[in-house]
Amino acid sequence: MKPLFLSAAASLMLATAPLAVMANETIAQAEEMLAKAKEMRAEADTLAEKAEAMIEAAKAEAAAAATAATAAKAEAKPEEDTAEAEAGDGTPDNIKVAYEEDGKYFTEDDIPTYNIAEDGTVDWYAFSGFRRYHSECHVCHGPDGEGSTYAPALKKSALEMDYYDFVDVIVNGRKHVGASDNSVMPAFGTNKNVMCYVDDIYVYLKARGTEALDRGRPAKKEKKSATYVENENACMG
Ligand code: HEC
Repeated sequence: MKPLFLSAAASLMLATAPLAVMANETIAQAEEMLAKAKEMRAEADTLAEKAEAMIEAAKAEAAAAATAATAAKAEAKPEEDTAEAEAGDGTPDNIKVAYEEDGKYFTEDDIPTYNIAEDGTVDWYAFSGFRRYHSECHVCHGPDGEGSTYAPALKKSALEMDYYDFVDVIVNGRKHVGASDNSVMPAFGTNKNVMCYVDDIYVYLKARGTEALDRGRPAKKEKKSATYVENENACMG
């Protein structure tokens, strides 16, 4: 019985030993896995921390950019205001009204100029100039003084040319003879429909040149003055 028991016990032990070894191995493996998991978790934590830091940094950057943009806008604004102030105040002397005589406006150099009130009312000369320009000059120089393929934009000429040179071209005409171009500006010196309204046309084109006057027919205008009617009758008569 004994040997049998022993042998049974022995065989049991033999049978259990590998189980124990296997269990031990499994524990070791599990421990290893746990360690690895811990390591990975630490790594994940580090990564998460890094990601969070990156988000924070990006947020801070975005905020800084927004602040900078606002600051830039704030800086740009006063500049705009200055530019406007200059446009209002620093009107060139060849345009700025120095005085008025019976509805006709002049610069300090006694050169005719336009006057447009804050409500858009255009002086009579500029309004009359719009009509005269479109009946006599428009055909070559384009609508609203904008120029054409044939003749220059007079809204620019009126600003760039001296008043007396401008009038001289109207009176005497001009011939441009080139290899590829022989455009002719006719002389209007004997045409009363032009000569009696030269200043009207000139101030109208000046107002177009500065864009103080929009394209098209001016909506509001000053009244024709008695002096204007007198001069007109004398010139046309
Ligand atoms: C038949 C076409 C024609 C008509 C009509 C005409 N012009 Fe001209 N005008 C020209 C041409 C072409 C020139 C450019 C001449 C040159 O190249 O020298 C010119 C040039 C001018 C210039 C010189 C512009 C510059 O910048 O050098 C003035 C000022 C001018 N015209 C005024 C007038 C006015 C004001 C009227 C209307 C009363 C008028 N013209 C009608 C054809 C015309």
